[in-house]
Amino acid sequence: MPANSSPWWKTGVIYQVYPRSFQDTNSDGIGDLPGITRRLDYLVSLGVDALWISPFYPSPMADFGYDVAHYTEVDPLFGSLADFDALLAAAHARNLKVILDFVPNHTSDQHPWFLESRSSRTNPKRDWYLWRAAAPDGGPPNNWLSHFGGPAWTFDQLTGQFYLHSFLNEQPDLNWRNPEVREAIYAAMRFWLDKGVAGFRMDVLWLLIKDEHLRSNLADSKPYNADQPETHEIVATMRSILDAYPGDRLLIGEIYLPLPQLVAYYGAQMQGAQLPFNFHLILTRWEANAIAAVIQTYESLLPTAAWPNYVLGNHDQSRLATRIGPAQARVAAMLLLTLRGTPTLYYGDELGMTDVPISPAEVRDPAERNQPGLGLGRDPERSPMLWDATPNAGFTTGTPWLPILSTHATLNVETQTTQPASMLALYRKLLALRREHAALHSGSLTDISAYEGVLTYRRTHEGRSLQVFLNLTTEHRSIPCPAGRILLTTIMDGEGAPVGPTLILEAAEGVLIQLDD
Ligand code: NOJ
Ligand code: CA
Repeated sequence: MPANSSPWWKTGVIYQVYPRSFQDTNSDGIGDLPGITRRLDYLVSLGVDALWISPFYPSPMADFGYDVAHYTEVDPLFGSLADFDALLAAAHARNLKVILDFVPNHTSDQHPWFLESRSSRTNPKRDWYLWRAAAPDGGPPNNWLSHFGGPAWTFDQLTGQFYLHSFLNEQPDLNWRNPEVREAIYAAMRFWLDKGVAGFRMDVLWLLIKDEHLRSNLADSKPYNADQPETHEIVATMRSILDAYPGDRLLIGEIYLPLPQLVAYYGAQMQGAQLPFNFHLILTRWEANAIAAVIQTYESLLPTAAWPNYVLGNHDQSRLATRIGPAQARVAAMLLLTLRGTPTLYYGDELGMTDVPISPAEVRDPAERNQPGLGLGRDPERSPMLWDATPNAGFTTGTPWLPILSTHATLNVETQTTQPASMLALYRKLLALRREHAALHSGSLTDISAYEGVLTYRRTHEGRSLQVFLNLTTEHRSIPCPAGRILLTTIMDGEGAPVGPTLILEAAEGVLIQLDD
């Protein structure tokens, strides 16, 4: 790569694979690594550049792999290290990068490190986790809460102390103030970097380090168990580990924070994460003014050399097509793929997959089991990928671990590939246009505004401009528009037609226009 060309992850598009739900190859109803390998050609045909794979490490699966029991192995459920090597080689042969999910904040309670740590107060690994005596009243050491409900502390009878867990009690938090912990995690990162992975998506990066004195949180002030200043030193070290390798390795941070705190994760002198995940399109109401404001605010807060990014869905959020409806999901696809910055797609969103209804007997997610009925469960957005119209959608010949969407007969890859105006066809077209037009993958973003529920902005590169109009309403709109010709509409008609000085938009229509020079 010439020294002055931009790194792959700036112009590229990332695709998230949830391995349990992508493709099963051994009929156990659970997706696996050989399944991902089998479907790589699909990712090529879609037009993405990198896949991020949610955790496949050995795990008791209390949190479906986000409870890691071994950082440098593959859980037999998903295959073997040899299967991973084969996947990586097959991906590279197709010019696809592979990004791993890495979980540095906590391990499984079955990780040998924790088994040792828990065994006695004097064990050399005791300090690898956060153990504390009970409060004077016999309760937990402080008032911190678990993200999955209840206190973030569990009492361990054996040694008579509490340990900290920001998530399940089966997911004890590592003590990032201990240098041995840092070195152990960095060694695991290097293991995968040596194999040739393109980078990591770091789980809950903003939670990594806790207040030194483990002070209780106070109402209306910054929590002591999140976004601590010392986190940035660790992120910079992680980054330096990646930077020691050739090929622009990528550090992505999973960070749910307000925009001003989020952009701090680019780090001083851009020595932090290259892409602190921006979830604000998910968190903002689907309304043109609100979306315009969030994009504008984000752009204005970005440090000079920082590269933006956007996410519309993941394995923790209700599906896009469920949140905003199938018609607006097409508009959202155009938004995500025409904004300035790296987009991350969630598997199945390119088909318009919706949340799958989960009956109480089908619940798998601990977030739902621990606090039933609050709508916290994440099973609905994790249902198996829809490949074809057969009963199990080509996902498995066994019994799928989560139900298959009832709409699978029409919503699948095979069927949508034959339909010129399908959601999949729209995604393919958008991804191809993004690749083809420098204005889209590298251009500036200007003139963002909202007009009667229509979001519009301009992308420009070397004097060539594209204009995007997105009708976020359920009515048609007539709107002033510079002269140009239509490159694509989300309804997928009228390509090549001249437009201006007025543009008529159907309800929930998005239009991408190449402006006359
Ligand atoms: C964030 C992950 O995305 C989520 O799925 C998981 O439950 C928590 N981190 C805990 O690792
Ligand atoms: Ca399997």
